[in-house]
Amino acid sequence: MRLILLGPPGAGKGTQAQRIVEKHGIPQLSTGDMLRAAVNAGTEVGKRAKAVMDAGKLVSDEIVIAIVSERIDQPDCANGFILDGFPRTLVQADATEAMLKAKGLALSVVVEFRVDDAELVRRVAGRYSCAQCGSVYHDTDKVPANEGVCDKCGSTHFKRRPDDTPETMTARLQVYYKETSPLIGYYHAKGKLRSVDGMAEIDQVTAEVEAILSKL
Ligand code: AP5
Ligand code: ZN
Repeated sequence: MRLILLGPPGAGKGTQAQRIVEKHGIPQLSTGDMLRAAVNAGTEVGKRAKAVMDAGKLVSDEIVIAIVSERIDQPDCANGFILDGFPRTLVQADATEAMLKAKGLALSVVVEFRVDDAELVRRVAGRYSCAQCGSVYHDTDKVPANEGVCDKCGSTHFKRRPDDTPETMTARLQVYYKETSPLIGYYHAKGKLRSVDGMAEIDQVTAEVEAILSKL
C-alpha cells in the first residue's frame, strides 16, 4: 500500500498516519518530521531549512525530493509507505510519479482531509507532542489517558513546534492554498483522490480512512 495523505496544516495527517502505521505496519514518511530531525541534528539541510520552516514557507523542491527519494529506497518501505506532508507542490507530485515509475510501482490512493481554516488554527494552537516518541496530542481534544504521561512510551517530556504560532499558521495556510491545493485536482484527474471529513472526531476520521483502505 502506497498512500499520500493530503491536507492543510493541522488537518490530522500525522495523527491518522500514526494509526495507519499501527494497523498496517507500513512506515510514515513525514517530510516535516524528517526536516525537523535535520534541523535538530544541525546538518547542512537542517541549516538551510530552519528559517524557511519557522516562517511557514516551503523548503525547496530539490531538498525534499532528495530526502524522500533516499527514504523510499530503505528496506522498510518495500511493502509500502505513507507519504505525510509530501508531495506539496506540482513539481513534487511529478517527481513522486517518476520515483514510483522508476521502481515499477504505482500509487494506491491519495486521502485528502477537509477541515475549515478556523478549526485548523484552533488545532495547531493546542498541539503538542511527546519529545521521545513523537505521538501527537492536543490540549483539549487528545490528552494522554494518564495526564502528563505519553500513552505510547510513558515519557513525561512533551514539546511544541516553533511554527505553531498564529502568525506562522497564517503563512502556512496561504502557502497551502497557493502551492498544495492544486494537487487535489491533479490527483482527482488521475482517479486517485478520496476525500474525508477531517472535521469529525479523530476515531470517526480513522473509520473513514480505513473504509477507503479496505477497498484497495
Ligand atoms: P509539516 O510537519 O508537514 O506540517 P503541516 O503539513 O503543516 O502539517 P501539520 O503537522 O501541522 O498537521 P497535521 O495534518 O499532521 O495535523 P496533526 O495530526 O498534527 O511541515 C512543517 C514545515 O516543514 C512546512 O511548513 C515546510 O516548511 C516544511 N515542509 C514539510 N514538508 C515539506 C514539503 N514536502 N515541501 C516543502 N517544505 C516542506 O493534528 C493537529 C492537531 O489537531 C493535533 O494536536 C491533533 O491532536 C489534533 N487533531 C488531529 N485530528 C483531530 C480531529 N479529527 N479532531 C480534533 N483534533 C484533532
Ligand atoms: Zn511517547
